[in-house]
Amino acid sequence: MDPRAFVDGQLADIRAQVGDGLAINALSGGVDSSVVTLLGHRALGRQMKTIFVDNALMREDEPRRIVRLFADLGVPVDLVDARAEFLEALHGLTDPEEKRQAITNTFYREVFVRAVKESGARFLLHGTILTDIEETVAGIKRQHNILSQIGIDPQEAYGYQVIEPLMTLRKDGVRAVARHLGLPREIAERIPFPGPALAARIVGEVTEERLATVRAATAIVEEELQATGAFQYLAVLLNDCATGIRHGRREFGQIVVVRCIESTDARQATVTRLPWDILERICGRITAIPGVNRCLYDLTPKPPATVEYV
Ligand code: XMP
Repeated sequence: MDPRAFVDGQLADIRAQVGDGLAINALSGGVDSSVVTLLGHRALGRQMKTIFVDNALMREDEPRRIVRLFADLGVPVDLVDARAEFLEALHGLTDPEEKRQAITNTFYREVFVRAVKESGARFLLHGTILTDIEETVAGIKRQHNILSQIGIDPQEAYGYQVIEPLMTLRKDGVRAVARHLGLPREIAERIPFPGPALAARIVGEVTEERLATVRAATAIVEEELQATGAFQYLAVLLNDCATGIRHGRREFGQIVVVRCIESTDARQATVTRLPWDILERICGRITAIPGVNRCLYDLTPKPPATVEYV
């Protein structure tokens, strides 16, 4: 794939499909939606609207950072604050599938549908890639973003037409296009992050307090491990407690798991053999988070484990 020819072709296709209409897309800050955002704005200019939905499940400072980064690229992004709506939808849920479903429904049936209606857009640009389609068709993954491939007509169901400019590319192709478009390294080479965001890393109920804990642990893990070049690294909050000692007193505290893996496409993964001193430093920092008194390193490859815990 020649990134220049790919981009030129997609810009022409998007313009031809949208004509003088309006298009909208949701930016998550991942490489796929970032590339789609730039393609859309280069193709359509003011006929393109981009929103970033703050679902309360993001990493530290992520919504503001991404909006600022795109502003610096000359792309306006509307930040939609839907934190209360997502937290409400997740309230009391502990089953992994129910949690994922609640996030998908809140996004597509509530927040995004409302944004599309308010904008008057009839076209939705989406960052679906080839691997998403293959894995969904094979039944490996329940991706929410490939409606038509699983027999849902978005025109009928939601009143908009979906345009998927990246559906012939795999991740390496998307990254090549991202570099060609001039997206900064921190986006083009970003490690994978799941759609359900930090909710995929909280076993049990997702609450504001538990999100704050896993968010703080995630920031530590990302900072400590970014130089390793590992495929993906993350922190998980378990739904269990263990006895520990803090300030000379017994404390029934929380447990955080650190995971770091090597993989090419996340279908299979081995565990990174991290140096002991890095692990000890991470453990020290994570157990300094209020309420956390244990930190574990997960040695399980995929399979039998998956990457995420939910
Ligand atoms: P699992 O946990 O299934 O994850 O071994 C494999 C890879 O996919 C990411 N992942 C997701 N990505 N939406 C996404 O866009 C999701 O719902 C989702 N669940 C998992 C995960 O981070 C890993 O890279």
